[in-house]
Amino acid sequence: MSTGDNSTAATERVAIIGTGLVGASWAVVFARAGVMVTGFDQLPAQREHALTLIDTALQSLAQAGLLSESPAVVRARISMAETLDRAIDGASYVQESIAESLPAKQALFAQLDDAAAPEAILASSTSSFPTSAIAGELAGRSRCLVAHPVNPPHLIPFVEVSGAEFTAAQVIERTLKLQRDIGQSPIHVRREIEGFVLNRLQWSLLAEACRLVADGVASIDEIDAALRDGLGRRWAFMGPFEVGDLNAPGGLADYLSRFAPTIQAIATSRGAQPVPLDSEFVEAVNANCRQRWPASEREARLAGRDARLLELAALLAAPKPSS
Ligand SMILES: NC(=O)c1ccc[n+]([C@@H]2O[C@H](COP(=O)([O-])OP(=O)(O)OC[C@H]3O[C@@H](n4cnc5c(N)ncnc54)[C@H](O)[C@@H]3O)[C@@H](O)[C@H]2O)c1
Repeated sequence: MSTGDNSTAATERVAIIGTGLVGASWAVVFARAGVMVTGFDQLPAQREHALTLIDTALQSLAQAGLLSESPAVVRARISMAETLDRAIDGASYVQESIAESLPAKQALFAQLDDAAAPEAILASSTSSFPTSAIAGELAGRSRCLVAHPVNPPHLIPFVEVSGAEFTAAQVIERTLKLQRDIGQSPIHVRREIEGFVLNRLQWSLLAEACRLVADGVASIDEIDAALRDGLGRRWAFMGPFEVGDLNAPGGLADYLSRFAPTIQAIATSRGAQPVPLDSEFVEAVNANCRQRWPASEREARLAGRDARLLELAALLAAPKPSS
C-alpha cells in the first residue's frame, strides 16, 4: 500500500497473525476481495485447522451465492507461513488476531514494529484494548490502530476503526478505505473510548436486560424475544436513528419530542447521566437525517422498510435446511 494511497484492495498484501476464529474469517474477507493473504499462528496445528475453517466458509459462501469466484480461486490467494517474519514479509497491512491478552498483544506489536515494512499498517482485532495501551510505547506507533470486527467478519461486515491520538490521520484513512474496498462496513471511532461503539451499545442493552431480569420484570427468554421477534427485525437493516425517523410522521425530531421525557426518566431512574436531548442536539440530528433521507422520500422509505420486513419474515418462516 503506497502512502500516496492510490491503492486498490487487489494490490494489497495482508498478513494475519493469529489464525483462530477471527483470523481465519479475516483471511476469507481479504481473499474474496482479491487480496493475497499470508497467515501465521504460533500453533502449527492451528495453521492447519484454520485452512479447514477457511475451506468450510468458502464452500458455504459459494452455496449461498455469495462468492463471485470459485472457492478454489479464492483459496489460492491464502497461504500459511511457518514464522512471523515470513508472514509479514512484503505485507502492506497486518491484521493482528491473537488471543485477547494485553501483554501478548504488546509483545507482538513490538515485534511487528521492528520487522514489518515501515509503511505497513499494524491493526489489532482487539475487542477491548485501546491502541494507546497496545502500541503507546512503540517508535512506529503512528501506524498502529484497532480494526475491531464482529465475529465472523466474513458474514458480518461491520468494523470499527479506532486509533490513538498518535495514530496518523493517513493511517486511519488508508484503513477505512481498505475496509471499504474489501466490502466491509467500517466506521471511524473518533476518540479512544472503552468498548468502542458496538460493545457500548450492545452492553448498554445487556446491562438493562440484566436489570429487568433482576427486578423480576421479565425472564431471559422474554427479553430475548423482545429483541429476536421485536427490535431485531428492523435492526437487521437499519439503526435506531433511522427507526425513530420512520416511526413518527414528522421524523426523528417528532419522535424524540414524543418520547424524550420517557427516555430521560428511564435513564435517570437507572442513575445514568441525563441524555443530551436539548433542542440544539435534536435539531442537529434531525437535520442530519434530512440530509441523508430527504422528506420527499419518506413514503418510499416506509414501503422499502416494510418490503425488507416481509422478506425477513419469509426467510425466518422458511424451514431450516437441516430440518
Ligand atoms: N471471537 C469473537 O467473537 C471476537 C470478535 C471480535 C474481535 N475478537 C478479537 O479477535 C482476537 C482473536 O480472537 P479469536 O476469537 O479468534 O481467538 P482464538 O483463541 O480463536 O484465536 C487466537 C489465535 O491466536 C494464536 N496466538 C496466540 N498468541 C499468538 C502469537 N503471539 N503469535 C501468533 N499466534 C498467536 C492462538 O494460537 C490462536 O489460534 C481477540 O483479540 C479477540 O478479542 C474476537
